[in-house]
Formats: sequence, structure tokens, C-alpha cells
Amino acid sequence: MRMRTVAIIFLTAATISCRDAGTEVPPDGTGGTGSPAVISGVFPDSAAVSDTVLLVGSGLGDAPGASAVSIGGRTSTVVVSWSSTRIVVEVPAGSTTGSVSVTVGGQTSNTLAFRVLPVAEARVSYSGQVVPLFTSNGCAGCHGGTNNLFVTPHGSLMAGTSNHGPVVTPYDGEGSIIVKKLRGTAGFGNRMPQGSGPLNEADIQLLARWIKQGARNN
Ligand code: HEC
Repeated sequence: MRMRTVAIIFLTAATISCRDAGTEVPPDGTGGTGSPAVISGVFPDSAAVSDTVLLVGSGLGDAPGASAVSIGGRTSTVVVSWSSTRIVVEVPAGSTTGSVSVTVGGQTSNTLAFRVLPVAEARVSYSGQVVPLFTSNGCAGCHGGTNNLFVTPHGSLMAGTSNHGPVVTPYDGEGSIIVKKLRGTAGFGNRMPQGSGPLNEADIQLLARWIKQGARNN
């Protein structure tokens, strides 16, 4: 129960961040009755049963009930949040590698490929693993109020107040600016941490995995 509440609060913040970054799917009239739902992305595109996934698109309906998400051949019964452009659901028991689709008012959307992992990835903890990674690598020193980026606490990291907007894109680890800055592939500024050697690959992947799992305040 507690986890669900956190996820909902968190998604509200994520929606706001997306709007700030100008990446919100524009209203295009597909939300009306009779127009098919379109899914443009599923994040992550592989997960285990009971993991949460985010579907982004348009005309996805406003609520479960009249609408349904199918993942790997099964209907998702646990809905974390639902809007016409973003749905977060759990991967249903019994689903197998295949595709994802949304059915709204009897019309089924396009499908996107989805892989069901046999075993859930170990959950990465923000307070237990991500914050220590930031402090031990000097990130918190330079990004604790300066350079327009706070890597802690969680709310500040997610606030999207840095020079390039949100640096964490929930459910998209490798696509997040913060991960690209660690790899030196962001396309602006320096590779982080500035002035010292790169983080090891395992640490970068840990951060990316936390984001891919929804970047929760856990
Ligand atoms: C010595 C100070 C310093 C350290 C240590 C440092 N940074 Fe930075 N960081 C900067 C400066 C200055 C910028 C702005 C210039 C740039 O983008 O290179 C920046 C930019 C960034 C940005 C882009 C923000 C934006 O949108 O403009 C991210 C993300 C970031 N750092 C993450 C990190 C992480 C994660 C660490 C720890 C691994 C870290 N930084 C360590 C100084 C530092």
C-alpha cells in the first residue's frame, strides 16, 4: 500500500517534469470516442511479473474498466495510475514474452514488443544505494545547491530545475541526462564527475537500473 502511494505521488511529479521539458504527448484528438489508442513507448521494454511498467501514448482512455492493458497475452489487473497519455500497471502473472497493447472502448491499439524476464531484477534503493553513490563520488558536493542541480533529497533531484530540465526520466535509465553525463554522451558540458575519473560501469548501471525501475523514493 505504502509503495503504491509513493508511486502515485512520484508519477505526478514525473508528469509535471515532462511538461516542463516539452516532451508531453500533444493532444491530437485521438482521445475522443471512435479513435484508436496509440502507444508510442513502453518503459522498460522488459520486466518480470509484478514489476511496474509505464506506457506512453495518446487516446488511452481515462480509467481502467472500459479500458484494459494486455501484456504478454494477459490483462493487467493491478493499475498504479491511468490517464489518456500515461498508464502505469504491473506485469500480470502468467504473461509471456510477446507484446503490449491497450484496448479502449473495444478498439485495440498498435502493439509494441515486450519481453517478460524470468526473475525480477533486484530493486535498487534510492536511500540505500543511489544516495551513497552520489556522496562517495563527490556529486552531492557540487550538486547540493550549486550548478542548479541537487542530487539529494529525492524531491530535489526529480524537480527538473537543472539547466537542461529534468536529468532523470523515470523508466528510461539509459535515456536520462544524468546517466549520459556519467558516460560523457549528453552532448553538452563535461563528463561527470567533473575533474575526476569516470565512475565504474557497475555503478553507472546501478543508477540506470534505479531509474528504469521508476526512480522511486525508496
Ligand atoms: C567538481 C564539481 C562537480 C562534481 C564533483 C560533479 N559535477 Fe556534475 N556538474 C558540474 C558543473 C560545473 C556542471 C555544469 C557544466 C556541465 O554540464 O558540464 C555539471 C553538470 C551536471 C549535470 C547536468 C545538469 C544540467 O542539466 O545542466 C548532471 C546531470 C551532473 N552534473 C551530474 C553529476 C553527477 C551524477 C556527479 C557525480 C558522479 C557530478 N555531477 C559530479 C560540477 C560537478
